[in-house]
This record gives sequence, structure tokens and C-alpha cells, in this order.
Amino acid sequence: MSERVLTGITTTGTPHLGNYVGAIRPSVAASREPGVQSFFFLADYHALIKCDDPARIARSRLEIAATWLACGLDPARVTFYRQSDIPEIPELTWLLTCVCPKGLMNRAHAYKAATDANEAAGQEPDDGVSMGLFSYPILMAADILLFNAHRVPVGRDQVQHIEMARDMAQRFNHLFGAGRELFVLPRAEIEEDVATLPGLDGRKMSKSYDNTIPLFAGGAAALKDAIARIVTDSRAPGEPKEPDGSALVMVHDAFATPDERAAFHAELRAGLAWGEAKQRLVALVERHIGPMRERYVELMARPDRIEDILQAGAAKARAVARPLLDELREAVGLRPATAADTGGAAPAKPRAEALAAFKQYREADGRFYFKLVAADGALLLQSTGFDNGRDAGAWVKRLKAEGAAALAEAPLDRAQGDLAAAAAALDALAAAEAAA
Ligand code: TRP
Repeated sequence: MSERVLTGITTTGTPHLGNYVGAIRPSVAASREPGVQSFFFLADYHALIKCDDPARIARSRLEIAATWLACGLDPARVTFYRQSDIPEIPELTWLLTCVCPKGLMNRAHAYKAATDANEAAGQEPDDGVSMGLFSYPILMAADILLFNAHRVPVGRDQVQHIEMARDMAQRFNHLFGAGRELFVLPRAEIEEDVATLPGLDGRKMSKSYDNTIPLFAGGAAALKDAIARIVTDSRAPGEPKEPDGSALVMVHDAFATPDERAAFHAELRAGLAWGEAKQRLVALVERHIGPMRERYVELMARPDRIEDILQAGAAKARAVARPLLDELREAVGLRPATAADTGGAAPAKPRAEALAAFKQYREADGRFYFKLVAADGALLLQSTGFDNGRDAGAWVKRLKAEGAAALAEAPLDRAQGDLAAAAAALDALAAAEAAA
């Protein structure tokens, strides 16, 4: 299987120039790399968490679909679909919900931010928190795991969610995989070096600061209007101007070639008027955005065609998703009834949750030891002797927290026990610890 890269786009709001430079342009470029299989989807179930206005939901997912297509996302080359057209996603969400520790969700940043804000305001912690907001990371895990994505490019704020998806995948593999990897463990790919575009006031361009330059909305006139409102210093025409740190120059540079950048900086240092500089910026951005806007307008005039593209994408996505989901259903025991299910016939599987336990003790030699013992009594790990109990205890604590990752360094009597079984048991313990 070639590397799979998957990205979800929450369908809220109207895309601005910052979204284009920071997310759309680099993602479209990445989708053209050879050797990767790209999945792009409109996360419209996620949009429902924040919005209960049906007209806005419907409009936003259409606008965002048209935006990505107009910006060059090629549905023949990538799998481009709408989350809500894939019934396997909510189906998997439930399977994951049943293995996801509630404690894990309690620690999700978005939920904690909401409860913290409530507490600061003297309200009930869960005031205004829907179950959708609370368990949002499970839906996101289903988005990712259903397609066995290896890489998930996201912003910093989303990294915790990818780690949670990994946790859920690991737990599911452990409980139901019977030695197989049902799920690939996804990796977050943090977009460190993508440009964040400044907005009109010089702060990061963001809807919440109300400082955005629209991408397509309002046409060329709105683009020109917004650029005219970019804040500059008050240097008069003819006075030398410092390009570094100027919001106007940063927006310019996000669209210019290296030569164009150098020429523009030199002209500003030589006294180019801000008004003239803004006109140049309008022309430059328009040269890039104009042709895309035309495609956008054409697409928005034919929502039926967008619908066809998305339906074809959904069929492509479901051809991947359905077979995996069938396998998962089988693995958890949701399968056609057979004689094996009549009881007695199949040996009862040992409870996967039966956990191994650490024991600490002192030997006749006066030294302190620990061991890890499986639920059935088998010895999994045996430590070497410690001079004091604290050191033995510290190792037990570390192994519990770090799981199998700490095994290599642990002071063990490696002639005893069963390291492979110990690794699995430690991961199960760590997962249970995380859940507690
Ligand atoms: N929650 C993501 C965001 O707000 C969007 C998203 C939903 C997503 N599902 C995803 C991103 C799966 C990556 C993978 O940006």
C-alpha cells in the first residue's frame, strides 16, 4: 500500500487569503506529489458541532467544495468526498466510542477550554457543552482510521487529536486484532513552515480577529477594498520604507517570485508610495486569484456538478472504507450467526482486559526487586536487585507510564520472563492507566 495522506476541512465560514496560503495551496501542491494516495474530505459532521443553522451549513460546504476544486484539487487524482456521504464513518465512530476511555476525552483541549471558560465565568463546567463537542476526537479518529491513513497534515492545535486516534487504534488492535493490525497507527504531520499570513492589522489573519482578506467572496472589488485597508506606517511618498515586518509586504511576498520580491523591497526602500504599493499588490494577487475565482464562479453556478463530483468521490472512498468496516464488524463479533456462536463450540477467549500486575518485594539477600506477572501467573519480567525500594518503585512507575518503550533501558534479568509478552502487557497497562 502506498503512503496514504488524509486531510479534513471543517466546513464552516468562508475561505480567506490566509486559508489559501496556509492550507489550500500547500495541500493542493502536496496532492500532486507522486507516490502518495491523498484523501481530502469536507468535515461537515464536524461543522454541526459549532453551527445549528441549516442554511449556513449547506452553503458553507458547497462554497468550500467549490473553493478547493477551483484552487486546483483534482478529483481524478485524489479522493475528494464529503464526510456525511460515508455512512461507515459514524458506524466506526460507535465502535471506537465503545473502546475509548472517557478519561481520554476529559483531557481533550477543546473540551477543557470550554469547561475552564465556564468555571472562570462561575458557571457549571459542562454548561453549553454538547456530546458532539465532548466526543469530537472520536469522530475525528474514525475519519482517519477508516482509511488507514499513515500521515495526517494538521496545525498544532490538532496534534492531540491525532495522538488520541493513535491511542484508540492501538487499543482496538490490541482488543480485537488477534495479533493483526486492523488499523494503521497514524502520524501527525505538523505544518511548521507554511506561511501564516498577517491580516489587515498585522496580526495573524483570522476570522476571529475580523482582519481577513476574502479569497473569492465579493469578487475583485472586495479584494481591492480589503487590500486598501491594510495598515501601513505613515511614511509619505518619496520617504524610504522598511519592507521587513510590513503586513502589506508579507502578503505580497506570499504570492511573488523571489525576483518580484527583491524588486518590490528595493522600490519601497527607494520611496515607493504606500498607495502605489497597494495597487501593485492588488494586481499581483489578482493575477493569481483571478483565474481561480472564475472557475469558482462557474462551479457555484452549477451546484449539481459539484454534487456529482462529490458523489463520485464518496463512491471511491466507500470502496476503501466498506471492506475495512466489514472486517471490523467481524472482529468485534457483529457477524452472521453460525454454529460457532451457539456456545460451547468455540473455546472462550481469555478476557483481553485481564491485566498483568507488578509485584515489589525484598529477597533474603536484602535487596529489592520487582516483577511483572501475567493474569494467568506467568512471569513476564524479572528485575535485577536494587539497593533500596525507592529505586525499584521508580522503575515500576516508569514502566507503567512509558510502557514497552522503557523496556530497553530497564535493569532486568533478561534470562527470565518473556519480553515480547511483557511489551504487550505493558502497553495494555499503560492504556488502562491512561483511562483511569
Ligand atoms: N478537526 C479538524 C480541524 O478543525 C478537521 C478535521 C476533521 C480533520 N476530521 C479530520 C483533520 C481528520 C484531519 C483529519 O482542523
